Parts: sequence; C-alpha cells; structure tokens
Amino acid sequence: MKLIYQQMLAFFAVIMTTLLVVGLFFIQFTDKMVYENTWDQLEGYADSLMQQAMTVDKTTNTFNGFQVSMLSNSEAVLSHQKVHFAIFNDKNKMIYPIAERNNGPALARTLKKADWRKLKQGKRIYRKSDHGTNVLNNQQEMTDVLVPYFYGGELKAVISVGSLVSNVHANITKIEHNLFMALLISSVAAVVLSFLLAKYQIFRINRLRGAAHKVAKGDFDVQLEAKHRDELDDLAIDFNQMTTSLRESQDEIKRQEERRRQFMADAAHEMRTPLTTINGLLEGLQYNAIPEDMRGKSIALMQNETKRLIRIVNENLDYEKIRTNQISLSKRNFNGTEALQNIVLQLTKKAHDAGDKLLLTPGATVQVYADYDRFVQVMFNVIQNAIQFTQQGTITITAKHGYHETVFTVQDTGIGMSADQVKNIWERYYKADPSRKNTKYGESGLGLAIVHQLVHLHGGEIKVASKEKVGTTFTISFPDEVASQETPKEKG
Ligand SMILES: Nc1ncnc2c1ncn2[C@@H]1O[C@H](COP(=O)(O)OP(=O)(O)OP(=O)(O)O)[C@@H](O)[C@H]1O
Ligand SMILES: [Mg+2]
Repeated sequence: MKLIYQQMLAFFAVIMTTLLVVGLFFIQFTDKMVYENTWDQLEGYADSLMQQAMTVDKTTNTFNGFQVSMLSNSEAVLSHQKVHFAIFNDKNKMIYPIAERNNGPALARTLKKADWRKLKQGKRIYRKSDHGTNVLNNQQEMTDVLVPYFYGGELKAVISVGSLVSNVHANITKIEHNLFMALLISSVAAVVLSFLLAKYQIFRINRLRGAAHKVAKGDFDVQLEAKHRDELDDLAIDFNQMTTSLRESQDEIKRQEERRRQFMADAAHEMRTPLTTINGLLEGLQYNAIPEDMRGKSIALMQNETKRLIRIVNENLDYEKIRTNQISLSKRNFNGTEALQNIVLQLTKKAHDAGDKLLLTPGATVQVYADYDRFVQVMFNVIQNAIQFTQQGTITITAKHGYHETVFTVQDTGIGMSADQVKNIWERYYKADPSRKNTKYGESGLGLAIVHQLVHLHGGEIKVASKEKVGTTFTISFPDEVASQETPKEKG
C-alpha cells in the first residue's frame, strides 16, 4: 500500500475512533437527560395537580378526597400536551379517571406491590416505561412518575403522571439524527484533513528522496531546508551533514589524487635527469670514451644520482609503512641535547651554504623518551626545512622539559608561510610553492607528512606558527615514559 494511503488510514482511524467514542457517550448522555427532563416536568404537573384538586377540612383536619371537576379540567388541558394522569387511593385502587377512556392510553388499575411498598415509605418512583400488570388494550407505552401524598403522617393518595414514551423517543431520535449528521460531516472533514496531512508528509519525504537521488548521481551540493520541527527535519539535517561530509571527502580525494599525479609527474621528471646522466656515463664507459682520470669522478656522479633515486623511493615506502602502522618503535630514554648536537653538526655545512646561523640553546641536558632513530629523523627533517627555506637568517633550536613531556622548538627567520599553506603542510606531496621543487634538499613534499605521522605515533604533538616573510616556528613535544604509558594518544 502506498505510504499516502497508510498515513491517511492512520489519521482517519484516529479521528473516527475519537468521534465514535464521543458520539456513543453523547447518545447515552442525551437519553438520560431527555428522560430526566421529562420526569422533572411530570413531577411539576403532579405537584400542582395535587395542590389544586385536593380538599382538606381545616376544622377537623381531615383529608376529604379530590375535586373531580378540577381534575377533569386539568386532564383536558394536559391531554393536549400528551400528558395523562391517574390517581390511586390509599388502598391502591385507581380512583381517577373513573371510567375507561376511549382516547387516552389504557392505564393499569392498580400499582405493583413492590412499587406500593416504596411509595408508602415516601419514595417517588420514576418509570421509563410502564406496560402495567393489568393493562387493558395497552398499546401506548408510557413513562411516568409516581408521587405519594401524605396527610397527617398517612399515605392518602398516589398520583401517576405520564407522558407517551413515543414522545420522549421522538426527542431522542431528533437529537440522534443531528448527531448522525454531525458525524457524517465530521467524517468527510476527517477524510479531507487526513488527505491533506498525509499529502504534506509525503511531500516532505519525496523532497528527501529527490535529494537522495541527486546524491546518488554524484551531486553533493544539495542542501535541504530544515527547521528542527520534527524527526523528518532532523533527518533532513542529518542528510545535509552527510552530503557536506561526502563533498568534503570527495574534494579531499580529488586533492590527494591531484597531488599524487603531480608527484608522479615530478618524480618521473626528477628521475629522468639522473637516469639520462647515468645512462650517458655507462655508455661512455662501455666504449672507453671517458678518459682514465675522469672515470672515478664519473662513478661518483653515478653513485650520487642513484642515491637520489633511492631516497625518493625510500621516503615513499617509509611513509606508507608508518601510515599503515607497519613499523614498531623501540622507545627509550636518552639525552636529547646530545642527539640535537649531532644533527646540528651534520647540517652545519648546509646552513653555512645558505648563509644561516644555526643556534642550539638547551641550558642543561634534556632527557627525551622516544625511538632514537625516529627522533633524529623528525628533528633532522624540521631543521633541514628551516635551513632550506631561510636565506641569510638565523635558526634557533631549543629543548626543555615540561610537565610529563619534552618540548623542542625550531624557529627560523625565513620566508614563512601563509595561513592557507600552513593548513596543508602535513599532507603528502604538498609543497607550498611548487617552484621550490628543484631546491637541493627537499623535493618530494613527503618530509613533514612523515614527521607528523612519526610524532603522533609517539603520542606526541607537532604544531606550527608561521608568518610570511617573518619566519616559522615548529613546536614538537614527546611525552615522558610515565605519560605515554598512562595516556596513549590516538594516532593522527
Ligand atoms: N621552515 C619552513 N619555512 C617555510 N616553509 C616551510 C618550512 N617547512 C616546511 N615548509 C613548507 O612546507 C612544505 C612541505 O614540507 P616538506 O618537508 O613536507 O616537503 P619538502 O621539504 O618540500 O620535501 P621533502 O620531502 O624533501 O622534505 C615545503 O615544501 C614548504 O613549502
Ligand atoms: Mg622537507
């Protein structure tokens, strides 16, 4: 069944059940009300009849019966309103009307014993319908009220005032008819209303479906309007979040792919020069075209070029290993200052060539808890970058022990980076300025990606602050043995 019909059915069922319950309750209530009203009216008649027709001797204080003329006048008036009455004496014998009427309903000549007992106790009796026990030709059903009258503490008479049940029923039927009409109109309104409500919900679902279709076709720009009203709105909000993250990952994939493609192109380009050089030299050697004294130099050149090729290949392999968690760290405590001094020693020539001053300023010996080789790799890369991107400047390296960690900073006064460039430097193959690809030291754009992975693998952190044309500061922290055992940080 289509969702719209299911929804309509549900709405309709709820509305109809409510209407039916209310309707049934109302019918019960009207039935009771109509009878009670009728009895109220009849009691009123009974009281005034008694007062008018009863005769009492004031001097002897005795009850003298009824004035028949009064009664028949009243009977004439009341019969117009389809109200009939009868009077019984203290012996439970009907004393009025005396003769059998030919136009009114036939009434029982005596009252039931049970009723009589109650009447004697002064109770009034309300009867919904009286067929009577001694009914003569009783075709017309009556509803009546029996009212006892006492004089001097004794039951003197009972008056029964009744109206035709058919009259009462006519009233009830009229009300029921109106109710039925109201129900009919309400159910038509319910159908229309449930249709509109269902249509509205289906419209909202279809909007989501349409959007989902677009996403399936690769359009991640769809956004749905949502106002936090209900679950469907929440779904739309979730949907929007989903498309946003899909778009982001799609963009990310594209960016990665573009960089990888660029890297492959760069790598191929970079490899062609050394390979051509090596090939040329090999040919020269083969045909003895290289003079004897130049051979050693040629071999050294070939070695150099081969090393460069190996470096590019190794860095890629290394990155993949770290990324896929294939390396294990052998962490230990060692003298960080000493390790830094070694690195500085190795890089002094490079710094000198760039006209840079390389300053290492740890006050005392600083201990660090890390994998020694990986630590050197990290610091070497960062310091090498600093030299690479600084001309005629100063590179300052500091190390200090913080709370449960060792913190290193490498600050340079080089070319710096824009905020946008800073965001991307941890990414593989990223080079802030592609024209730098031919610089002597860095060219693959893999250095910082590896550094980042390594620091995180240690449970440490690496941050960068940079300003264009002012300089860059890298801050790297390695947790202490205690801290790295207590809170192993997630790998980035
Ligand atoms: N100290 C710095 N000052 C300015 N720019 C920097 C600095 N360090 C890194 N960068 C920028 O970040 C980019 C990425 O650095 P990364 O070390 O990953 O690659 P690379 O040095 O270009 O190549 P390699 O893989 O050989 O190290 C660099 O190309 C450079 O643009
Ligand atoms: Mg580098």
